[in-house]
Amino acid sequence: MDNTLEAQHKQLNESTLLDLFKENPERAKQFSLKVDELYFDFSKNHINDNVMATLFDKANKQELSTAIESLFAGEQVNNTEKRAALHTALREPKNDSDSSSIVQAALEKMDNFVESIHQQHWLGHTSKAIDTVVNIGIGGSDLGPRMVTQSLSAFHHPQLTVHFVANIDGADLEDTLSTLNAETTLFVIASKTFTTLETLNNALSARQWMLDAGCQQNDLQKHFVAISSNIQAANEFGIAEENIFPLWDWVGGRYSLWSSIGLPIALAIGMNGFRELLHGAHIMDAHFRQAPLNSNMPVIAALLSYWYNQYWGCSAHAVLPYAQRLNRLPAYLQQLDMESLGKRVNKSGAAVTTSTGSIIWGAEGTNGQHSFHQLLHQGTQLIPVDFIAVKKSMSNYKDQHQHLLACCISQSQALLQGKTLGQAEEELRVQGLSDDDIQQLAPHKVIPGNKPSNTILLDELTPKNLGALIAFYEHKVYATSVLLGINAFDQWGVELGKQLGKPLYHALTTEECNTEWDSSTIEIIKQLHS
Ligand code: F6P
Repeated sequence: MDNTLEAQHKQLNESTLLDLFKENPERAKQFSLKVDELYFDFSKNHINDNVMATLFDKANKQELSTAIESLFAGEQVNNTEKRAALHTALREPKNDSDSSSIVQAALEKMDNFVESIHQQHWLGHTSKAIDTVVNIGIGGSDLGPRMVTQSLSAFHHPQLTVHFVANIDGADLEDTLSTLNAETTLFVIASKTFTTLETLNNALSARQWMLDAGCQQNDLQKHFVAISSNIQAANEFGIAEENIFPLWDWVGGRYSLWSSIGLPIALAIGMNGFRELLHGAHIMDAHFRQAPLNSNMPVIAALLSYWYNQYWGCSAHAVLPYAQRLNRLPAYLQQLDMESLGKRVNKSGAAVTTSTGSIIWGAEGTNGQHSFHQLLHQGTQLIPVDFIAVKKSMSNYKDQHQHLLACCISQSQALLQGKTLGQAEEELRVQGLSDDDIQQLAPHKVIPGNKPSNTILLDELTPKNLGALIAFYEHKVYATSVLLGINAFDQWGVELGKQLGKPLYHALTTEECNTEWDSSTIEIIKQLHS
């Protein structure tokens, strides 16, 4: 028997997911896992024992277990920047390693600061307590902290509101500041490099806003703290060294919410909550590091992604959290996954011959059902889905929670089973339609089904479980990068736009155009000046 993945794709493409369920009544039990309070059902996928065995062979050929160990051991997995990617060290319990002592010291610094804000010991320039925090950062210095802070609103400190500003569009800052009181507002300038255009400009405007509101220059330090690995630049901006929270080059931007970059999270939910988040991630780390590949949640998720991406022609993956508070999760995962896996060369620099990262998109259920789910059900592209739901209700409207869960399950069921022409015709007959009308309408009501999905259930939306969920996705991305042979930790592609932006800014502010630019660019600039 031809056991290649190509041959298995051909074979499975001839049967349906429903056939697979009929053949094996134990399928859901066989293709599901539980790690702590996260249940992962991957039974609604085009897989069987043979496919999984071949995918595990592939993982072994790519030496995935060794690669996992290299990640945790702090080897230079980011070869183009000659760096380790030790975000897992940020959530390790205290130990004797060098990284542990600096991580613990940073946590302690955060702890003291959070306490001083919560206990109202830290006062603004008019001696009023801080009740509002504005995090200014972008990319990894925004998406993770923003998503986690929003997701954990049930745990927020009652006297503190946390806002996030990212965009260079001044409207973002302006809209946020319009309702705030400078006397009680603290800005957290979050930038690993402290060179990022958006963050530096927003920070300068925020500083001016504070001065315009009557704060004296020498009181600015009561309203500005920074998180950066570039102490000098943060210092030059005017932030006192003791108010700069550290970050290290072995923590990638999109993997940094566990570091001081998580300060807005800690301010919102307290340090105990933040430590719980780290603990949850550590539970997933330990699982990823120790579990055999064939019962390893992030590894299996990565293999499924690889399977669909390489053999089923899938170029997109939908993430559908059935939890309102997780509605920033798809945006967060877009950076994590697409910045990590959107690569065109392998680790040695040779062009890849297969496709790499998928387009990650999605929105919270049930809202998405009334928007883009139509394309999932009847569009012509095959788009695997992750459904994410939470067992325990997040509101006091308990019955609505049961509706929410029912909607989530019904969507994965509808994707699985679809509706045949015969079923559509019968439905219309029961409704009393004429034969002619049935013939015309029935084809439109056919839903092919046979669409794959995973379902992830969290017992409860707690800091610990959210930490585990995020770490699950981080490790899935890393394992996928190993299967593809690419570097998950660099992002050279984003640099070109930044380089080109400088002369264009010059052209827009001086009207001096480079005549060698393409005529479209020159014309757009002219239009903007007209
Ligand atoms: O533009 C990409 C990027 O480099 C991300 O990888 C990073 O998270 C973001 O910019 C922000 O960078 P910084 O924290 O240095 O401001």
